[in-house]
Amino acid sequence: MFRDGLLADKVVVVTGGGSGLGRSMVERFLQLGARVAIASRRLERLEREAAALEEATGGEVLPFALDVRDPEAVKALFDAVEARFGGIDALVNNAAGNFISPTERLTPGAFDAVLGIVLHGSVYCTLELGRRWIAAGRSGTVLSIATTYAETGSGYVVPSAVAKAGVVSLTRSLAGEWGKYGIRLNAIAPGPFPTEGAWSRLMPTPEIQKLFEDRIPLGRVGRHEELANLASFLLSDEASFITGDLVYIDGGEHSYGAGEFNVLDAVPPEVWDALEAQRKGRG
Ligand code: HXC
Ligand code: NAP
Repeated sequence: MFRDGLLADKVVVVTGGGSGLGRSMVERFLQLGARVAIASRRLERLEREAAALEEATGGEVLPFALDVRDPEAVKALFDAVEARFGGIDALVNNAAGNFISPTERLTPGAFDAVLGIVLHGSVYCTLELGRRWIAAGRSGTVLSIATTYAETGSGYVVPSAVAKAGVVSLTRSLAGEWGKYGIRLNAIAPGPFPTEGAWSRLMPTPEIQKLFEDRIPLGRVGRHEELANLASFLLSDEASFITGDLVYIDGGEHSYGAGEFNVLDAVPPEVWDALEAQRKGRG
């Protein structure tokens, strides 16, 4: 459904773009003609993945090492991207930290780590780039990768839930305030998509993985290209009237969790038969 060159002439910065879903999005953006900067903490991995992505797509990738919790490093990232590519059209706030734990066991430092990466990191990147766009009279688009529990909350990942809720609020707030500058901001709420980073920390056993899969009406986890295509669309000019939105891509997981009577999935056909016979017997 995507035409070649959909993202031609776009320069996109993807935090956490050297692994997992970030890398998959970058690959798709490159296939569609974008030039991309990938930024996270480990330079060696970024350089290796940048070379592999260039080789696979023929595109151009700038690797840049930073911790998104450091606002000065965020400035240096955008300086480097502007110096290399001449300007920036889009930002994907994808870098994240997360782990599972009963909340009462968490230290202040554990909360700070996740809030720092997810919420403060997204704020620093968005504000720094937004200021530059506004000063230059340039339009742009920001896409943040949230989670399905950003709106509902969730136990056992409370720092992440709090931080992602903030990111969604940032998205909606600035979509209102910065629309007049031609800046669009949207977010994506992915259901489970297997990645090393998420699975190693959040789905530690096959039994736990199965619990998650069983809650997805479409009966499977997400495929990376599905999320990468949605992100490409939202960044592209084809989505030019979409802003302030949170788009779910979760196989129906969050609707299922919210639907009170979906517990009736556990009722076997013979019980439905018996209930029907009773009802008919009542006339
Ligand atoms: C409890 C933990 C912890 C854990 C670290 N901490 N891991 N607390 N349970 N598993 C605490 C530490 O004790 C410390 O607190 C504080 O957190 C900071 O730890 P550091 O190791 O110094 O942190 P740092 O190097 O900054 O690492 C950040 C991190 C780490 C978040 C802790 O996991 C990381 O680098 N993650 C990046 C990748 C990632 O998480 N990807 C998954 C994204 S998936 P004290 O008090 O001792 O200082 C996602 C949604 C998935 O977001 C949804 C799936 C359906
Ligand atoms: P991932 O591979 O672990 O991605 C996290 C990325 O963030 C890594 O590249 C990591 O690189 C980078 N990062 C972490 N801390 C950073 C920091 N302080 N500064 C800069 N970069 C940092 O996991 P993923 O599953 O692909 O997650 C990608 C995004 O999707 C996240 O926003 C996550 O919340 C979201 N998400 C994932 C799922 C899923 O099922 N996979 C579901 C819902 C939402 P370094 O460690 O090298 O810094």
